[in-house]
Amino acid sequence: MLRRSLMARIAGCLAIALAACPARAAEPGRDAEPAGKGRFPDFGFLPQGYAGRIFKLSQDYPAAPPDRAAIPRFFGLDFRGDWVEGYLRTGWKSYMQELRRYCFEGNVEADWRVEENGVRRWYHMPWQHYGPIGREGIRGMTKEAEVKKYQLASTQTFSGGQTYAVAYYNEFAAYTIGKVWKDHEHPDLRGAEFPRGSVICKLLFVDVPTEQVPSLVDPILWQGYICDNFASNNRSVRPLALIQMDVMVRDDRTPTGWLFGTYQYNGMMKRPNRWDNLVPVGVQWGNDEDNRRDHYHTRCPERTEIVATIRESVINEDRDELPATHLGWNGRLNGPVDNPRSSCMSCHATAQYPIKSEMAPFFERNPPSPGDERWMRWFKNYKCTSKGGGPFDEGSHPADFCIQLVQGIDNFHRWWDERGGIFASEYGAQGTLERPQPTRDRPETDRSERNDLGLQPKPLSDAPRDRPATKPRP
Ligand code: HEC
Repeated sequence: MLRRSLMARIAGCLAIALAACPARAAEPGRDAEPAGKGRFPDFGFLPQGYAGRIFKLSQDYPAAPPDRAAIPRFFGLDFRGDWVEGYLRTGWKSYMQELRRYCFEGNVEADWRVEENGVRRWYHMPWQHYGPIGREGIRGMTKEAEVKKYQLASTQTFSGGQTYAVAYYNEFAAYTIGKVWKDHEHPDLRGAEFPRGSVICKLLFVDVPTEQVPSLVDPILWQGYICDNFASNNRSVRPLALIQMDVMVRDDRTPTGWLFGTYQYNGMMKRPNRWDNLVPVGVQWGNDEDNRRDHYHTRCPERTEIVATIRESVINEDRDELPATHLGWNGRLNGPVDNPRSSCMSCHATAQYPIKSEMAPFFERNPPSPGDERWMRWFKNYKCTSKGGGPFDEGSHPADFCIQLVQGIDNFHRWWDERGGIFASEYGAQGTLERPQPTRDRPETDRSERNDLGLQPKPLSDAPRDRPATKPRP
């Protein structure tokens, strides 16, 4: 393999992959500006002859940090509201309500063509277009995970469903993207420090027959250029239904510096503006690092099980509002298309490059037992970069909880690697190659070998972005 042989020949360049490589000297001919240089590609897939509106990557990232006055108003609210341990109340919902309003403002009106938001700018993460699960060209959605039979409701007998998603970054968060990707050929994670005020919002859509899921009545449908099913790479333009909206907020008041929240679509609310049918599932401000006694189960969701011993997530207890859903491990926050043995924070805390650990313990080649010392490494309150947090593994660089940042850099390096060929000028005086090198230190493993939870083997050989799918047990 090219990657391996290059690695062998130029061992030692690994450490300089994170932009420490000196810029190449300009050379006549070779460094002529290719068309569009300075712009990142917008998407990876669009059918021949498609005449509808297409996705544009919002990529004019702010060069300076935004003014503090632009910090969203909901930062003044207490995200816990009047929540007290063992006694759930609804105060936290005001925070979620305001946070939702902020994400919607101007974006709903612009039909989520966020570069046209008339109130404030929002942006996208570059380098999500590459590879078989990369961005499609209608909405910019990437292929994420499989939706298992019974995952969304006991009536959902359809299998082979899939999730597609697209994330949007406010100007605080986008400033960080711009810093990391300032040099388009040398992404530099040393700039990965999201400032207070950063908000990232992600819409998730499913390809399942909506009539099988009561909460997907009166759905919000988007057309996407999507695969026939999760296992397929053959695409066509088809509708998907909104199921979930995820948010990440950089707020100094939480133990880690990040707050996670999610909303689930419930068409039974029959709200006049269908976007308002996104009801809050909950908020997670910590990872409950002491909660380790495993009482996980993935029954097909007939009721939402709120676990009283979880202290750093609050979950919506209004059963009329929130459709029955599974949560994360031991009741930590997770959404309907997330893995029940994980949590928002536990996956996101692994964001680092080189990628040295899996996003969840059960994906490790030699998985730990639920609740043991090694398992609990995924359930700690790691700090964000501004609070002095380091990488999940020694010798890596933290990406400040942002997984798309990691995947973008990984995709970039794959592309660089796969295009093959070496420029003579890339060889320095010592015979070392001065270019970004693949930096996946962990061996490539066959994901089917790690299939400990009855999770389906991944059909795509290169699917780092996939969220593990849940397997509800009927
Ligand atoms: C199993 C791991 C996993 C879990 C659990 C998980 N995520 Fe993510 N998340 C990902 C991956 C992988 C991506 C990047 C893929 C993409 O969006 O294209 C991502 C992307 C995101 C993004 C876009 C910014 C970023 O970091 O890339 C947001 C916002 C987000 N997730 C929020 C949440 C919230 C809120 C929850 C819990 C309700 C959650 N996530 C649970 C794996 C996970």
